[in-house]
Amino acid sequence: MALEINLKGKVAVVTGSSSGLGRSIAQFLSQAGASVVINYRKEKDKADEVTQEIIQGGGKAICVQADVSKKEDVKHLFEMADQELGPVDILVNNAGIDGKRQMCGDDDPDEWERVISINLLGPYYCAREAVKRMIPKKSGVIINITSDHEFVPWSGYSAYSSSKAGLSMFTKTLAQEVAENNIRVISVAPGAIKTPINRDVWGNPDSLADLLKKVAMPRLGEVSDIGSVVAFLCSDLASYVTGITVPVDGGMLLYPDFKHGG
Ligand code: BGC
Repeated sequence: MALEINLKGKVAVVTGSSSGLGRSIAQFLSQAGASVVINYRKEKDKADEVTQEIIQGGGKAICVQADVSKKEDVKHLFEMADQELGPVDILVNNAGIDGKRQMCGDDDPDEWERVISINLLGPYYCAREAVKRMIPKKSGVIINITSDHEFVPWSGYSAYSSSKAGLSMFTKTLAQEVAENNIRVISVAPGAIKTPINRDVWGNPDSLADLLKKVAMPRLGEVSDIGSVVAFLCSDLASYVTGITVPVDGGMLLYPDFKHGG
């Protein structure tokens, strides 16, 4: 029998799943048999489209609007999951923004706050709703989508990089708290993946060439590179993995600029 990623009977909430990484993650989880809550903040049409795709493919999905930086919205998101599909088994904290490029001192502090609210407070609000439901079951998986920028500083994006480094520490601390309940918490750190978030970079030949120099493998990532790894980590095939970051970045963290010279 072929090896299979089996998530049959599981309920998964994927935040920010109307497009980009979240959309692919939701599709992979559904293909592995999970029922999926598609969450969006603004892109209702796209979220409806993903939901319909999953249903037409024979899967189970519902679509719920919620801004993860708002506690009340998050509460509603998990209550909808309870009502329609059952208490969550898998949470993927994917929703996130880069924010505006701005240098410290010459910046808008409200923008810094906005990035931290969505990228760090959001996953925390979602995780607390999730663990309340996972602890009684003594089972669950929480995946926090960070970035290579949890390790690599990124000039002009101090809020983004700090939010991802913070989220990585949240992963480790929460993993320590809930391991005794058989709940695993893992960060997945994408490198340069082609999504709407960085379309202005890969859509332009000069900035694409610059970005490719930062990746050891000879290509940017595709959303499916992330979706497949997340599905694997959510499954029992990874049942002894917790509290760490799994980079999925084609070797961006190998600092390929050091291949020559130094
Ligand atoms: C960012 C992308 C960027 C990539 C590599 C990701 O975390 O969201 O915009 O291209 O890191 O720097």
